[in-house]
Amino acid sequence: MAQRTPVRTNVSNVLVVGTGAAGLRAAIAAHSAGCEVTVIGKRARKDAHSVLAAGGINAALGTRDPQDTWRQHFADTMCEGYFLSDPRVVELMAREAPEAIAELDEWGCEFARTPDGRIDQRYFGAHTYRRTCYAGDFTGRAMIQALGRKVVELGIEVVDGLYVSSLLVDGGTCFGAHAFDVDTGARNVFLADAVVLAAGGHTRIWRRSSSRRDENNGDGMYLALRAGCRLADMELVQFHPTGMVIPEQIAGTLVTEAVRGEGGRLYNSKGERFMERYDPERLELSARDRVALANYTEILEGRGGPNGGVFLDVSHIDKDTILEKVPRMYRQFIEYQMLDISSSPMEVAPTAHYSMGGVVVEPETHATDVEGLYAVGEVTAGLHGANRLGGNSLTETIVFGRRAGEAAAKLSRERDSQLRSRSVVKAAGDELDSLIHPGSEFARPLQRALRNTMWEHCGVVRSAEGLGTGLDEIDRIEGLLDDVDVRPSSEGYVDLAHALDLRAALVTGRATVLGALERRETRGCHNRSDYPDLDEALAVNVRCDLTDDGELKLAHEQVPEVPGELRRWAAPAEELDITGRLVE
Ligand code: FUM
Repeated sequence: MAQRTPVRTNVSNVLVVGTGAAGLRAAIAAHSAGCEVTVIGKRARKDAHSVLAAGGINAALGTRDPQDTWRQHFADTMCEGYFLSDPRVVELMAREAPEAIAELDEWGCEFARTPDGRIDQRYFGAHTYRRTCYAGDFTGRAMIQALGRKVVELGIEVVDGLYVSSLLVDGGTCFGAHAFDVDTGARNVFLADAVVLAAGGHTRIWRRSSSRRDENNGDGMYLALRAGCRLADMELVQFHPTGMVIPEQIAGTLVTEAVRGEGGRLYNSKGERFMERYDPERLELSARDRVALANYTEILEGRGGPNGGVFLDVSHIDKDTILEKVPRMYRQFIEYQMLDISSSPMEVAPTAHYSMGGVVVEPETHATDVEGLYAVGEVTAGLHGANRLGGNSLTETIVFGRRAGEAAAKLSRERDSQLRSRSVVKAAGDELDSLIHPGSEFARPLQRALRNTMWEHCGVVRSAEGLGTGLDEIDRIEGLLDDVDVRPSSEGYVDLAHALDLRAALVTGRATVLGALERRETRGCHNRSDYPDLDEALAVNVRCDLTDDGELKLAHEQVPEVPGELRRWAAPAEELDITGRLVE
């Protein structure tokens, strides 16, 4: 089909794809380094996925527990990640977090304070000390507001409502992105010396997900893979223990860990505080993988509630404290269930929450394998290993957002001229044209079928048999992709966005299932009922490449060594304690 829609071209030094916390922080850094920056995003500005991040952001400030140190933060992150994290990435995150928080504070992020005016810190699961800074239970929103104000103050251009269909790459160098306006279909070509990809993860491809519709469909990872990047550890998907279970349309919506951090207790339908059996010391503040598996097990074994969840109770906490510490949760349950959580328990169940795997990046700069392309935030692999500590993802966004933005700016300054390949740009437009045609399938039901498949066959507990069935189903759905009806409608070009989301979800879903088959062990979030033990030989990262003929190819790669000075802060892997893990 001939390209009929108008094409607009935008030229800058650094292009940032994604308007969440990582993208905005990268944009501020690149601008501050003297670059002209453009930021583009799908959702309305100030409504990127980061606004859903609730309970907090970690830094060893020692406000409540002065004995905390960045080294202890490093140790907790390494150990709880089951030693699959890149130690250098963890070190940078833990070392630089306090300064990054101070900067956010200076930019007006409304952190909760202690009575003497310092930034307050709460408990989050599996942290040795209280190190989670917070703004009620809307920390991500408070951060986006502060970063957004800074972006406006600096005059950085932000264009929203754009769907990026491909990164522009010529001869192994990225020189921009091709996008279309979801309302009008107008094509937009963004040319830049360097691109920072901050486009999120892929957890919306599970039936129960803490992401909203049309976000986190794996499009960021897919863009990078097609551009020539490698992915790693796609099977390592964090299931948050507590998502809402009703009403069905919003099932999976996050019930923040801050509820447990502030004293919330988990009970089954027999009234047992069951975490006493799974982790008697840490109880509800055990690591996420354990609490998620505990909730899953209680439900599976018939001790769940009427809507298939367990009960999270805060009725022993006074209402004013609830309203001060978790005000959004209070309103969320009123809004959706007309339930007053200060007197009645919440019914909750695991929900797909965070992609711990993603694009392979170099630790210091977050440069990818593709010249000129950087990646940051949930789209990347490296920091969280097999089990992310709650609160570390927001820290990641600002520590590495700054680093990636600075590195992209440096690359731009070193360039004398800007690359532009007309044939690559044309191919990107032609590709979109080729997707617009009538068909006998619609993307939405196929997205739903994929989400059901991922939930049933690649969920909290996995097996070779289930994963095999999942792959068959992915093959079947993929076989229908070319027959998806895509046409402009009264809603604009949403069909096209859905079709692209589906394509990305199928590839990232396949990478996840293949990785899950490959990892024949139980480690962190990855529970294999047919391989219930941790296998030391699998203390590796599972890398995933796209071959020239479009196949996904996996390989094992050694995790980089912990540097000498930090070795004693990371317990040897043999000492990993897996008590409380009840997978049979
Ligand atoms: O439960 C939460 O508030 C989530 C925090 C996180 O994933 O870091």
